[in-house]
Amino acid sequence: MPRSAEALATPSRDTPYYEPVGGECRLFEHAHQHGLPLLLKGPTGCGKTRFVSHMATRLGRPLYTVACHDDLTAADLTGRYLLQGGETRWVDGPLTRAVREGGICYLDEVVEARKDVTVVLHPLTDDRRVLPLERTGELLQAPKDFMLVVSYNPGYQNILKTLKPSTRQRFMALSFDFPPPETEVAIVSRESGLDRDRCLALVNLAVRLRALKGQDLEEGVSTRLLVYCASLIRSGVPILEAAHCTLVEPLSDDEDVKAGLAEAVHATFG
Ligand SMILES: Nc1ncnc2c1ncn2[C@@H]1O[C@H](COP(=O)(O)OP(=O)(O)OP(=O)(O)O)[C@@H](O)[C@H]1O
Ligand SMILES: [Mg+2]
Repeated sequence: MPRSAEALATPSRDTPYYEPVGGECRLFEHAHQHGLPLLLKGPTGCGKTRFVSHMATRLGRPLYTVACHDDLTAADLTGRYLLQGGETRWVDGPLTRAVREGGICYLDEVVEARKDVTVVLHPLTDDRRVLPLERTGELLQAPKDFMLVVSYNPGYQNILKTLKPSTRQRFMALSFDFPPPETEVAIVSRESGLDRDRCLALVNLAVRLRALKGQDLEEGVSTRLLVYCASLIRSGVPILEAAHCTLVEPLSDDEDVKAGLAEAVHATFG
């Protein structure tokens, strides 16, 4: 029987801070209850990783996070035999540990992973919910509490680097974006300790900078960078200088693009 919705603990002081934007916490909980794997997509720095650690704490599950890259193999996730003190011992990888412990395994930037990784993910993400460990001969049945969460940023991926439909359609998916202004003000203020009025000015600036996306800008300025900017201002860095090194320089190497961004910064704070 799925546990009741009340099983989700209200955030405590030890819960990583996450400001919900819509019904994502509830949907995550339902996904967990039903053993559905979850795909999160959205631009860099919009809160995907924070959301997963917040939910893992609220559900009381251990979290194993793996940053995927193009050298990541299935063995990096499942485990391998290692020589330890003259003996060869099997050492579980993060995915196997999460399965054994009924934890949450979070694969960040999953589209970067090599193709053989999907081979281990497929039986785990359909109704079989099994992890075959070829090298040890085990076939692990995922316990009810085990959950697989993957994320990627659809924006800057090479068109060839996308998930195959047969992988993609094994996941329930949520789209993330930058939070609405009033929520983003709350986040930036809470994360940096800067007063709300100055955070509001930064968020308004971000809205203007994000409108420049597409004109040679791959991605709009992230909530993460706004938190950086607010933290610098809070510790005494002059606003223009803080904005330049957090909201202009990280976004582009192109002088014209940077000039456009700097103009918007000056129009707000100059
Ligand atoms: N809804 C939110 N609640 C609390 N903090 C947030 C939220 N959204 C963004 N943040 C802040 O933005 C920062 C970046 O968020 P996070 O690391 O979760 O982004 P991400 O979407 O995982 O980015 P990437 O795709 O680059 O990994 C967090 O460290 C946090 O300070
Ligand atoms: Mg992340």
